[in-house]
Amino acid sequence: MRGNQLVLLSGTANPSLASEISGSLGIPLCDAAVDRFSDGEVRVRIRETVRGADVFVLQPTCPPVNDTLMELLIMIDAARRASARRIIAVVPYYGYSRQDRKHTGRVPISARLVANLIETAGADRVLTMDLHAGQIQGFFNIPVDNLRADWIFADHARATFRDLSDSIVVSPDAGGAVRARQVAERLDLPLAILEKRRTSDGSDVDVMNVIGEVTGRRCLLVDDILSSAGTLIKGARTLLDHGAKEIFAYCTHGVFSGDAIYALAESPLKRVVVTNTIFVEAAEKGHVAEYTSVGDHLAKTIQCIYEYRSVSELFPHY
Ligand code: R5P
Repeated sequence: MRGNQLVLLSGTANPSLASEISGSLGIPLCDAAVDRFSDGEVRVRIRETVRGADVFVLQPTCPPVNDTLMELLIMIDAARRASARRIIAVVPYYGYSRQDRKHTGRVPISARLVANLIETAGADRVLTMDLHAGQIQGFFNIPVDNLRADWIFADHARATFRDLSDSIVVSPDAGGAVRARQVAERLDLPLAILEKRRTSDGSDVDVMNVIGEVTGRRCLLVDDILSSAGTLIKGARTLLDHGAKEIFAYCTHGVFSGDAIYALAESPLKRVVVTNTIFVEAAEKGHVAEYTSVGDHLAKTIQCIYEYRSVSELFPHY
């Protein structure tokens, strides 16, 4: 019986973040095996009792997204059937979040379907970070804590650039303007917005116009997801064409799909800063991106949820 105890159960998606959170909380990871049957089905075995415990199931649903999502669902199911008191899905990166509305006919709203799956599996609550669209919280009928990375990026910029007076924060599209504005306000900097249009099949970034004055300025591009890196690279080129001095980027979720790492290495971006919501091999991340950790941030929030304390009190800037 682990009545009322806090248990941290991790999937295989981000082992280094799991061990960081476990270190910050001062508790070991739950003894569990998460692997595959010979036919590829996910196999989960929780090797210690979690009866009566608050089980925090950590799993960003990053690539391979269908596998990591299935692991998350099956871990939640295992904890529920093992009589956990509460199950909190800790999903620092929420895969499928960009499919959050019907932008044309006969397409799914996959972000909503994923929410249904997580609830049906048995989660009582969700803890996530920088959802692509805040409205995704409404796809759930259970509480969702959506942490923000804006203050982490603002702190990083302050520590990195001695003088920010010639800088401007830039959102790579209109949809991300609120997120970029939060960073701009923290740094007391102006905001510019790129008007991004995608090709008709949505696979590539087509045209970009600049709203705001970037000439002679250091531009800090702020975005939620770095996937193919097309948005950032085309954004950087557009800003340079409009007379910007140099370009840096801050993105919460470094997916680095396809050839993103190579494309970034050859791009005009001086530096890309991402958080560790998604695990990328050290050898790959080193040459294009700098990582800043959200481990302690997540650990403090987990402790708060466990103790039924207000998360906004912990982070007054929310
Ligand atoms: C789009 O609305 C998102 O905020 C990101 O800008 C986008 O997902 C980045 O994708 P990619 O790196 O493939 O251009």
